[in-house]
Amino acid sequence: MSKLFDPIQIRELTIPNRVWMSPMCTYSAPVGTGMPTDFHQAHYAARAAGGVGLVMVEATGVSPVAPISPVDLGLWADEQVEPFSRITAAIRAGGAVPAVQLAHAGRKASTSAPWEGGDYVAPENNGWETIGPSALAFPGLPAPHELTISEIAEVVQQFADAAVRADKAGFDVVEIHAAHGYLLHNFLSPISNKRTDAYGGPLENRARIVLEVIEAIRQVWPAEKPVFMRISTTDWVEENPHDDRDSWTLEQSKQLALWAAAHGVDLIDASSGGLDVVPIPRERNYQTAKAAELRANTNVLVAAVGRIDDAETAHDLIESDQADAVFLGRPLLKDPSWANHAALSLGATPRYVRQYDYVL
Ligand SMILES: Cc1cc2nc3c(=O)[nH]c(=O)nc-3n(C[C@H](O)[C@H](O)[C@H](O)COP(=O)(O)O)c2cc1C
Repeated sequence: MSKLFDPIQIRELTIPNRVWMSPMCTYSAPVGTGMPTDFHQAHYAARAAGGVGLVMVEATGVSPVAPISPVDLGLWADEQVEPFSRITAAIRAGGAVPAVQLAHAGRKASTSAPWEGGDYVAPENNGWETIGPSALAFPGLPAPHELTISEIAEVVQQFADAAVRADKAGFDVVEIHAAHGYLLHNFLSPISNKRTDAYGGPLENRARIVLEVIEAIRQVWPAEKPVFMRISTTDWVEENPHDDRDSWTLEQSKQLALWAAAHGVDLIDASSGGLDVVPIPRERNYQTAKAAELRANTNVLVAAVGRIDDAETAHDLIESDQADAVFLGRPLLKDPSWANHAALSLGATPRYVRQYDYVL
């Protein structure tokens, strides 16, 4: 048996196992619409029927300037709710919990799909001017517009409004994307945040917008449903002896996790990096050790992610209490039924939908 395939209850929600689909952009919405299509539905339904406990729908923009690319999904308008409700129904029909990652790409927004180069897309080509805490550019992209205090309040409200739409569309979990060098991470990291007002400087100021987003979402999101938050546990700068910049670190992540939990976040999805172009280790478990340390030091539920490529690694992370759940990305692109195959190899019971179960 394997605890990996035991259910986990968070608030009133029971998630049938601890193998979860990590959010992955598919760059497949019609340009500028944020609208899910038949492709998204088939893509997410296949992973749900393949046995994962939870499907985290890809980064979904909270405003028209929030997507990473003009072909990302969005929940900034009411007409986007109905096509999302078809996705949640398809995920549920496959036996998994539907979840969505609410995102603002900040200074890394308005870029083309990776297979088209991932370069900046100018306003005249369906792109837009990006925003950030400070007018500091990510390498290769234009400097963002520095948000005013009232514009920060608008962003906070946009996260809450998107959460209302996510609830209407039938999602059981929302995840706040505060990782990978996108807007909220830009506020957290002293590399990208040089503000001198209440949103910059000491950690409690850099974390302010994140805590405001959590609070605003918790005011509108049903109390029985969980809120997750993805963070980068490190900028991978303090680990580099040749880089002495002040950066976002695991120690600050621990404090943020505690504050986030006190404000209503139920689980930290512990990723890393993305704020700057710096060397990052890529070996197996390269960032799950940080997830484990976060979990051990905070007593907050933590999901690990990143190069968890085989069933034994996933099993070990859960059995050894290094993580409460695992998010898988690329392995699920290769094999939509990764979870059921892992269950079989670990001697656990696969979670086939009843349409398959009676013959398999
Ligand atoms: C194609 C692709 C798209 C991704 N899009 C997102 C995203 O929308 N939001 C996010 O937080 N991470 C995103 N990621 C990161 C994954 O969620 C995951 O953290 C990463 O791929 C490491 O896990 P893996 O080794 O299992 O793939 C993406 C990764 C890939 C490969």
